[in-house]
Amino acid sequence: MKIIGISASPRKNKSTLFLLNQCLDEAKQTAEKSGRDLSVEVIDLAPLKFGGCIACGYCQKGVQCSQEDDFQPLIAKLSDPDLCGIIVATPVYMGCMSAQAKAFIDRSVLFRRNGFLFKNILGGAIAVGGSRNGGQELTVQAVHAGMMIHDMIIVGDGDHFGGTAWGSHPDGYECDETGINTVKNLGRRMVELACLMHS
Ligand SMILES: Cc1cc2nc3c(=O)[nH]c(=O)nc-3n(C[C@H](O)[C@H](O)[C@H](O)COP(=O)(O)O)c2cc1C
Repeated sequence: MKIIGISASPRKNKSTLFLLNQCLDEAKQTAEKSGRDLSVEVIDLAPLKFGGCIACGYCQKGVQCSQEDDFQPLIAKLSDPDLCGIIVATPVYMGCMSAQAKAFIDRSVLFRRNGFLFKNILGGAIAVGGSRNGGQELTVQAVHAGMMIHDMIIVGDGDHFGGTAWGSHPDGYECDETGINTVKNLGRRMVELACLMHS
């Protein structure tokens, strides 16, 4: 079993990546407790250069993209047959996901156009806002919408929608206990469901 986490902040090593790592650490611990092998990989979009889909139609003829940019290597990573879950972590920008997250989701359409290759893959979302209630839940739902278009299986945090964190917590995002609990619970639920589906 493999889970890929996408960190969709344009900033390197900030709150979004921190919270994604918290989520994936919990996923690994849950798998260990269940005696299951789980590999996790983080794809950090911050250093990558790619834009949105240009609707050229090239992917209608295969698992391929015409744009020669930093999205290209992600196609092979996301084609891994062991892949059972994808977690998209994004900062909240203007009440929704970052442009990097949207570009990633739009470019992933090539997997849909070639036989719904993400069908039944588990999908979870993490949103990190500068305000405690700055649109995290709306953002998580927007990411979920893209995942549903892939016919993925949406996973929450066992209580609400997924990871919702506060990047500007007065004591630092590492101290956002409430938010950290939501991302950890999402990681745990991803693995619990992956184990049920791949027993
Ligand atoms: C263009 C822009 C728009 C933003 N819009 C929101 C917003 O609508 N709601 C919110 O809570 N925070 C908003 N923020 C703050 C970021 O979500 C917050 O700083 C987040 O922690 C950034 O993630 P990072 O630390 O991983 O880069 C915005 C920041 C930027 C740069």
